[in-house]
Amino acid sequence: MTDHTADDGKKPLFYDPTEHRIRSFVTRAGRLSVAQARAIEELGPQFFIPYNKAPLDIDQAFGRTAPTIFEIGFGMGETTAKIAAGMPEKNFIGVEVHTPGVGSLLKLIGEQNLSNLRVIQHDAFEVLTNMIAPESLAGVHVFFPDPWHKARHNKRRLIQPPLVELLSSRIKKGGYLHCATDWQEYAEQMLEVLSGEASLKNTADGYAPRPDYRPVTKFENRGLKLGHGVWDLVFEKK
Ligand SMILES: C[S@@+](CC[C@H](N)C(=O)[O-])C[C@H]1O[C@@H](n2cnc3c(N)ncnc32)[C@H](O)[C@@H]1O
Repeated sequence: MTDHTADDGKKPLFYDPTEHRIRSFVTRAGRLSVAQARAIEELGPQFFIPYNKAPLDIDQAFGRTAPTIFEIGFGMGETTAKIAAGMPEKNFIGVEVHTPGVGSLLKLIGEQNLSNLRVIQHDAFEVLTNMIAPESLAGVHVFFPDPWHKARHNKRRLIQPPLVELLSSRIKKGGYLHCATDWQEYAEQMLEVLSGEASLKNTADGYAPRPDYRPVTKFENRGLKLGHGVWDLVFEKK
């Protein structure tokens, strides 16, 4: 458990000077609860995969060969844990930069005995570039990525052509990319960017119905009751 650098300070990493790439997140000091810290300590060795600039042997990491779903930005991990619990036949790799989120998901893994889930704490863009081999994923989930509401921050949004091209290259033919957002203008951007990626095809005519495997979160439910929208996009790798 060494790679907790993302939360070591409050300094925002707006910009990676080595890559000249704008980050989709800012580091937050975030409070780590005692239970989350304990989960990292006790379950980390088994379920945490350290970031490494070398291809990950997924079969070895899970001790089996199975379709693998990759998730970017799992937050506190409730949705991730629910989906993994409902699909024990699939492997799940969750990537998140925020330490309390990592602790929270490891805690859920312990409580629910989820042997099909692994956690990486690092920038998903770099994880995909360096650890995930081309055409190795059965699916990718990006649920409620930060919308970066202000126009001057829009450039930090994850769903932009470079990431989508990289994601698509990591997905096997017939695999899928599933994004969801509750921010209409970001949904429109997602639709435009995903539709513009030549290696993907839309499974729906525009936005997709919410697939049954994606649970409705408490936050989302509250928004839906207030009349706010949620948009799912499900694209298939050609
Ligand atoms: C708005 S939250 C959504 C969390 C969760 N998916 C949900 O539906 O509740 C977005 C999360 O993505 C994470 N994130 C943003 N950019 C990331 C990146 N490049 N790599 C890994 N995680 C990232 C943030 O730390 C944050 O926890």
